[in-house]
Amino acid sequence: MAGIYIETFGCQMNEADSRYIADRATSSGYDVVSDPASANVVILNTCTVRDNAERRAYGRMTQFKALKRADPSLKLVVCGCLAEQDRATMQTRVPYLDGVFGTSDLVRLGDALAAWRDDFSDDDLTESRYLQRPLGGEADCVTNAFTHLRAFVNVQRGCSYYCTYCIVPYVRGRFDNRPLADIVREVEAAIANGAREITLVGQTVNAYREPATGFDFAELLARVAALPGLDRLTFLTSHPKDFTPKLASALGSIPQLAPRFHLPVQCGSDPVLRRMNRKYTLAEYESKIAVFREHAPDWALTTDLIVAFPGETEADFEATLELCRRMRFAQAFMFVYSPRRGTPAARWEPVPSEVGGARLRALAAVVDRDVRAYHDGKIGSVVRALVQGPSRKDPTRLAAKTGDNVTVIGHARGLGEAALRERPWLDVRLDAAHVWGCDGTILGAARRFDDPSPVAVSEPAFRSPI
Ligand code: SAH
Ligand code: SF4
Ligand code: F3S
Repeated sequence: MAGIYIETFGCQMNEADSRYIADRATSSGYDVVSDPASANVVILNTCTVRDNAERRAYGRMTQFKALKRADPSLKLVVCGCLAEQDRATMQTRVPYLDGVFGTSDLVRLGDALAAWRDDFSDDDLTESRYLQRPLGGEADCVTNAFTHLRAFVNVQRGCSYYCTYCIVPYVRGRFDNRPLADIVREVEAAIANGAREITLVGQTVNAYREPATGFDFAELLARVAALPGLDRLTFLTSHPKDFTPKLASALGSIPQLAPRFHLPVQCGSDPVLRRMNRKYTLAEYESKIAVFREHAPDWALTTDLIVAFPGETEADFEATLELCRRMRFAQAFMFVYSPRRGTPAARWEPVPSEVGGARLRALAAVVDRDVRAYHDGKIGSVVRALVQGPSRKDPTRLAAKTGDNVTVIGHARGLGEAALRERPWLDVRLDAAHVWGCDGTILGAARRFDDPSPVAVSEPAFRSPI
């Protein structure tokens, strides 16, 4: 069988696009493989949101050159946001690429895959393909046997908010909402394909308006949650400007929603928020969180933070630390500001990089304490978590994610791939807390999230090697 290997960098938008590529590839007769050495086509779906994302992607292309040299029939393809940004120069810079497809070329990429399928017979991988050193998995996600359990469904493309630091509107185009009927069809197809968790994705997903009827994101959540067979529903990423009391009450009243809410604040100082063009003040953010807390007191609140934005003073930074101490985020993704070509902030006087590094470390110390405390609060409880696959660090252990998005790791105890695909919800007793998540003991496995009687993992039916 012709194999395709897909590595994804970046955010939920790329994740959703990788699923589209995987679907197109499977319907053209490819097998999605999780080892590049057994693939005929390697896809790198790239991100360019910060300079290190860009460098990682070019670094990865260089690593894949060895595979291409060992077997010139391998097709190496780059797509995603970096491909969109560098579409004019990438193939000159990396001449051994077989294709560069920007974010608007996804359908064309699917067509190319179908056309290439005939070039591969079912057993044409050369011996020399097997490299001395494995290429390793450095991507944020590799499409594997468990990927279909989580479906990412686009509800909205692009972004028109133009935060002054952000490249996304330039590489993803302007904001565009999809019709409800398309979203529903895609969610139903994902459920039929075994998806247990649906993530509705967009860059400002809560600004969704149905193009024909004008109904809003809270109504969209209710419609999707009511679809038969849906286990868990979540969404990424919300913008504070578009957070409404109606959405807060939807969060508190739709039982299928996973109890987590990601609301990027970026920083805790009004002058910086204004220069970032974030369209809210700190007081507005905090009052929205207060409303959210009234409706969803037990949910995990998570955020994104940028330090060392141009002009950020010590006092501005102190305000961000203070905000974190008040909010006690369950998780925060923290970044040093990275200038992006063509964005307004890239022309402004930068904060020295040593100052940026020091601020990131100071912020991480505050945030990590809260994250660790959040995990500590779970010790001793039994949670139901959706399997992700073998842990990257130790493949004898399984990684899974709880509804509030905490990583839990436990010994596989004989659970094999087939059993896990059938019963992907693991009941895990949490034994030890860390900043990255929790260690636990896997006790049982269930078909559905609300299955009251999971099968104990000691059952002989589950004794197959992973
Ligand atoms: N649409 C989402 C975020 C998309 S990008 C929102 O508006 O919140 C994901 C995160 O990357 C952002 O929240 C921001 O924290 C970070 N980010 C984006 N551009 C950046 C840049 N130039 N430098 C550093 N961090 C950046
Ligand atoms: Fe970027 Fe701002 Fe759009 Fe988010 S809302 S994608 S940070 S421009
Ligand atoms: Fe990166 Fe593109 Fe997302 S730049 S963060 S993958 S929209």
